[in-house]
Amino acid sequence: MKFILVAAMAKNRVIGKNNGLPWDIPEELADFRAFTSGKTILMWRKTYEGLGRILPKRRNIMLTREPSAVRIGEFPTIQTENGWKVDGGEKGEIEIYTSVEELQKHLWEDEDLLILGGSEVYKLFLENPLSEIRLSEIHGEYDGDTYFPAFEELYIETSREPKEGYDLVWYRRK
Ligand SMILES: NC(=O)c1ccc[n+]([C@@H]2O[C@H](COP(=O)([O-])OP(=O)(O)OC[C@H]3O[C@@H](n4cnc5c(N)ncnc54)[C@H](OP(=O)(O)O)[C@@H]3O)[C@@H](O)[C@H]2O)c1
Repeated sequence: MKFILVAAMAKNRVIGKNNGLPWDIPEELADFRAFTSGKTILMWRKTYEGLGRILPKRRNIMLTREPSAVRIGEFPTIQTENGWKVDGGEKGEIEIYTSVEELQKHLWEDEDLLILGGSEVYKLFLENPLSEIRLSEIHGEYDGDTYFPAFEELYIETSREPKEGYDLVWYRRK
């Protein structure tokens, strides 16, 4: 199993503003959708709330310390005998865990976990020896309130692909 941190970062390290993305780059979003489709994704509470919906065709997992207080768009959380979840009916569901330790008990051996942010969860997983980074390096600087943590001392670039408005860059642990 690998942890893949998937993020988009401006030249000044900004990744978010007012619980959303400060840029609008359709090609980057389409690429994100294609890469994450069919996989298991992890987001933390604020990022899910900012998004306000369950991402279709993916196994959705959320971390929060307070499951009862969360609401994703029109859907509140519910408690079942197997724990907390958001049940979106035909829109799918979000499994909810209150710690990384609890989450790890529910992952399959051969399953990669895509870490989709925000900044607190990136910080935690950057330290993990099983992590890689798939970073959309957005051309230009943006105003924002959330930043991608420093990773350059621990990681080395392995590939770079220029795209419209950003570079798609992979990093692995040194
Ligand atoms: N550009 C990108 O690639 C990208 C990707 C993702 C997000 N973003 C942006 O980043 C911003 C959101 O990031 P953020 O750093 O403010 O928030 P975040 O990391 O999404 O969420 C933080 C929340 O996660 C929960 N949490 C933190 N540590 C935990 C732990 N040890 N165990 C369980 N739960 C824990 C807490 O929820 P509770 O308070 O409920 O306990 C905490 O308030 C938004 O602007 C978003 O658009 C950008």
